[in-house]
Amino acid sequence: MKRVFSAVRPSGELQLGNYLGAISQWVEMQDGYDCIFSVVDYHAITTEYDPKIFPQKIKDHLLFYLAAGIDPKKCTLFIQSQNPNHTELAWLLSTVTTVSELKRMTQFKDKSKKEKIISAGLFNYPVLMAADILLYQTDVVPVGEDQKQHVEIAADIAKRFNYHFGEVFKIPEVKLVKERARIMSLTNPMKKMSKSGEDKARINLSDPDDIIIKKIKSAVTDSGKKIEYSQDKPAIANLLRIYSACSSESIEQIVAKFKGKGYADFKNSLVEVIIKKIGPIRDKKIVLEKDEELYKKIIFEGLEKAELISRETLEKAKRAAGLL
Ligand code: TYM
Repeated sequence: MKRVFSAVRPSGELQLGNYLGAISQWVEMQDGYDCIFSVVDYHAITTEYDPKIFPQKIKDHLLFYLAAGIDPKKCTLFIQSQNPNHTELAWLLSTVTTVSELKRMTQFKDKSKKEKIISAGLFNYPVLMAADILLYQTDVVPVGEDQKQHVEIAADIAKRFNYHFGEVFKIPEVKLVKERARIMSLTNPMKKMSKSGEDKARINLSDPDDIIIKKIKSAVTDSGKKIEYSQDKPAIANLLRIYSACSSESIEQIVAKFKGKGYADFKNSLVEVIIKKIGPIRDKKIVLEKDEELYKKIIFEGLEKAELISRETLEKAKRAAGLL
């Protein structure tokens, strides 16, 4: 069975883009693949964060995976910092990664513009991500479009390591679902929806219905009145993609359904399909968090499995590099 690895950084609030771009793919893949999913807390501390609420954020993320339909009996779930093999392999990989390729990373360029202090951790972020992926001999990495470049650099690093030291790592491939890979902000359709920044630009998985209604009602639209899918109407195109992803109707079907109707009708219906899709996830997560033992049990069992698989690869890599 092919191996899948993917993860979310527990910074900010999980939002609709994370769900549609990544987590919903994981749910679809868990029956056909050997899946490993992590909450990558070491990645989240490369930008400003609050250590006091951090343990809760990590837990919330894992519970949202479960609430979204990830089955811990089928998948391995763990918290990244609890498996030290990740940071150990990251060091080894950093010796075959060049500063110039890290400088080319779009996410580093974007994030370093926003941060007060640009840490070496932020710069080395893609190396740790490569370690996450390569440690599990991963075949496929389901992510949103913004992470494509990072999966590609992981593949380059693997090839280079294999070239110098012999065949150690599998070369991973990225998996995107085109229409769901880049959900845009509700206030600026030229920017991607993200966990940070102004709250009204995104739908959080934890948002109550009335907030979802408010955010969609105030979402920006384009000039004109028609509901049509076109490059010159980026705001409506984004809302149509969200509608399609949440309802499983094609964009053509939705456009046909709203022929002759205006934005208000469209938005009312959009609110309904979003709430139908993510409302149950929010409600299920609230139920799951009442069971204190569940979280501990799942991450304990997941860590054991993850540690075992990753230790084998780490030892292979160290042996190949002349360290054992
Ligand atoms: P992160 O935490 O920023 O995002 C988690 C996942 O959500 C996807 N995503 C989106 N997809 C569509 N539209 C959007 N607006 C949107 N926003 C986010 C991301 O592409 C991602 O798949 N570096 C990674 C975490 C990571 C990782 C890994 C992922 C660390 N190690 C190993 C895969 C494999 C990140 O920051 O994702």
